[in-house]
Amino acid sequence: MIELRRAEGAKPLIIGHRGAMGHAPENTMASFERGLALGADLIELDVHLSADGHLVVIHDPTVDRTTDGRGYVRDMTLAQLKELDAGSWYGPEFAGQRIPTLPEVLEWARGRVGLVVEIKNGPVFYPGIEERVIEALEAYGMEDEVVVISFDHRCVRRVKELRPRIAAGILYVGRLADPVAVARAAMADALHPNANYLTAEDVREAHRAGLAVSTWVVNDPSWAQELAGMGVDSIGTNYPDRLRSVC
Ligand code: G3P
Ligand code: CA
Repeated sequence: MIELRRAEGAKPLIIGHRGAMGHAPENTMASFERGLALGADLIELDVHLSADGHLVVIHDPTVDRTTDGRGYVRDMTLAQLKELDAGSWYGPEFAGQRIPTLPEVLEWARGRVGLVVEIKNGPVFYPGIEERVIEALEAYGMEDEVVVISFDHRCVRRVKELRPRIAAGILYVGRLADPVAVARAAMADALHPNANYLTAEDVREAHRAGLAVSTWVVNDPSWAQELAGMGVDSIGTNYPDRLRSVC
């Protein structure tokens, strides 16, 4: 299993959010390359399922915001999704970027960088997506280089039930009354709370329970410094370069 905890006093790892979405069109190979080049220790990405069952890397359930197409990912085949331009909306220099598949990103990442794979489930639900993600990770031998996360904690639990060795984390926004209990219910190894609601006490409690703490999205180095002081294990950012002085 990938090591998610940092040693006492060690700096947090930097997670490139959707690659380096402050510098390049999110969830494209250009963004992942940029994230790595700018110093990210791990690269985060989002996955959905196409109409013909392929795992595709895109944030929203529709292609409307981040491509030149329109419609739901679940209604389009991989061939249709691959026709779309996923870069021009961001800038002309990114024209021709395509929606990657998870296997394409695994192939790129293998031996270079670990991944944070967010399974998107809701408002469009993808029955069986957990099995498909596991199959892909195993096909590329990346089970121990990845943490699987989701706002859908049943999805997290399904991954852990099927493959306990794959690290998994629960995403949430807000301050839970008992995050450790919620993590236990999902069989999670890590908490992935939104940074706006995170306190030093929460980090201490998580660590005492053996859980890693990875927070997001933090673009301000002084805020990252504060979170590092709380002992968080990793921080997601749109600008990995900005956090390099801290992490
Ligand atoms: O890594 C956590 C973060 O990616 C969750 O939010 O909306 O950017 O997928 P979102
Ligand atoms: Ca995400």
